[in-house]
Amino acid sequence: EFKQGPQRFKVCVIGGAKEIDWFAPTGEKIEPGRLDVSVIRNDETSSTLTIYNAKVDNAGTYKCVASSGDREAEATVNLKIYQKITFTNVPSPQEFTEGDNAIIVCDVMSSPPPTVLWKYKGAKIQFEKDVRFRTLSNNHLQIRGIRKTDEGVYTCEGRIKARGEVDFRSIKVVVNVLPTIRIRQAETNGTADMGFSTLLACDADGFPEPMVTWARNNVPLESGEKYNFNEDGSEMTILEVTKLDDGDYTCIAKNKAGESEQELSLKVFVKPKITYLESQTTTEMDEQVTLTCEATGDPTPTITWSFGTRVFTEGERHCRIKALIITVYPTRVSGEVVSQMKAARLADSAYAPKILGSVTVYTWEGNPANISCEVLAHPSNVSITWLRDGVQLPNANISNIKIYNTPSASYLEVNPESQSDFGNYNCTASNEIGTESKEFIVIPADVPSAPSITQVQPYSSTAQVLFEEPESTGGVPVLKYRAEWRAMGRGKWVQRVYEVQDGESVT
Ligand SMILES: *[C@@H]1O[C@H](CO)[C@@H](O)[C@H](O)[C@H]1NC(C)=O
Ligand SMILES: *[C@@H]1O[C@H](CO)[C@@H](O)[C@H](O)[C@H]1NC(C)=O
Ligand SMILES: *[C@@H]1O[C@H](CO)[C@@H](O)[C@H](O)[C@H]1NC(C)=O
Ligand SMILES: *[C@@H]1O[C@H](CO)[C@@H](O)[C@H](O)[C@H]1NC(C)=O
Ligand SMILES: *[C@@H]1O[C@H](CO)[C@@H](O)[C@H](O)[C@H]1NC(C)=O
Repeated sequence: EFKQGPQRFKVCVIGGAKEIDWFAPTGEKIEPGRLDVSVIRNDETSSTLTIYNAKVDNAGTYKCVASSGDREAEATVNLKIYQKITFTNVPSPQEFTEGDNAIIVCDVMSSPPPTVLWKYKGAKIQFEKDVRFRTLSNNHLQIRGIRKTDEGVYTCEGRIKARGEVDFRSIKVVVNVLPTIRIRQAETNGTADMGFSTLLACDADGFPEPMVTWARNNVPLESGEKYNFNEDGSEMTILEVTKLDDGDYTCIAKNKAGESEQELSLKVFVKPKITYLESQTTTEMDEQVTLTCEATGDPTPTITWSFGTRVFTEGERHCRIKALIITVYPTRVSGEVVSQMKAARLADSAYAPKILGSVTVYTWEGNPANISCEVLAHPSNVSITWLRDGVQLPNANISNIKIYNTPSASYLEVNPESQSDFGNYNCTASNEIGTESKEFIVIPADVPSAPSITQVQPYSSTAQVLFEEPESTGGVPVLKYRAEWRAMGRGKWVQRVYEVQDGESVT
């Protein structure tokens, strides 16, 4: 075994010799002028054979023959060559896909051949404990059905016992995991033509972390005026939803290990819209009057009629108001969603104002909010006044109040400056027939209480967190949730804001 430098053999001939020749193991005489082997005659009695860059095939028996006239003597030198442990092919990292029958490559040579030993994270692999591990005849390590947990640093160690020689190489083994997709909702509801956006989400697990892309009818969707995507593509926002957006969408999660896809569908509802409603004027001479209302929407809307606080039941066709009979014809009655009602100005004789609108208004200091005093009346020219503790509004002492009047409503915009601005406000509406008043209450809104986490479900690269909505919303709807997370006990906090979509709750 040559550690360094050329190897020399010197032979001495007692009594001197005229010629000293060397013969290679093949029997061939070594002639001068060769680069790999040289013969130097030192003096009368000695000659040196030098072998440069010795290799395994230089091994063998070298013979030297000394001659002087007819006298001849010979001697032999036996050259054994050992090769030290040599790693010829040990790639690192070596990558596999979870579930593969992985073969970790480590090519090691020596003479005599080495014993190869495998270690995982510094400890000897217990082949008898895990039958998935096996050393192949070429010393490669086989792991059948490799798992994510098998990832780490493996050591391929070569040993030559007789010489006490040991050498090793470390191999980083990476296990990629095919993406899987969890969908938050297979079917999402959206509303058309309201300027709303809708969110479709596919949470993907896998290693390396998958990128999610989206397609519709096999056409990839790109970020622009219609679609928006978050950083990793897992959330797609469809902007300005219309009926045309109704249908199926595919989300595709892709990484080195492969790809998988899931189908999601978006059902778009079109809010009912009243397309035909005509006011009628009658005299008390008329026996009856017929009112017609038509509406469009998807699904087809149900039409209901009301008069003041009175709602007509289905099938109830006639209504006696004072001396007049009103016949009501619902033009279509089907579908499920009732979401828009337009007040039909009923064509009876004069009546006193009726005040509509929500009684409670939530706001906070510095945030202007409207109290809506909406009035139904006939004749419809009503005078509306606002009172606060019996004092008419607006007045010189109060600057944080504005009034907006329309023919059928009055809006009192209150911008609370202190606690004393919360409380009761009185709206009074009058026409020729009569007067009605209603008390509205401005209530201080509060910050919501914290949502409580009920369950955390970890997946390979994401986690699903279930939480209860806050017990108290503080009076106004919750708009956003912020989640912050980091790896157990280390790393930086990461945060993301989840917006509450279209009045629905976040899951
Ligand atoms: C979508 O709307 C349909 C029909 O109104 C309803 O049955 C379903 O629960 C809604 N789905 C969601 C996720 O809100
Ligand atoms: C209150 O209503 C008026 C009239 O509709 C509107 O101009 C104003 O912006 C509203 N104020 C708030 C705070 O919504
Ligand atoms: C304004 O405040 C002063 C002093 O508190 C009071 O005398 C007066 O009556 C108030 N005016 C109105 C219109 O409320
Ligand atoms: C409504 O209009 C009629 C006719 O123009 C008028 O006589 C009446 O005083 C008005 N009523 C109110 C409350 O403004
Ligand atoms: C509103 O104020 C008027 C005038 O002071 C009063 O007659 C009426 O009872 C008040 N309305 C309510 C609901 O308090």
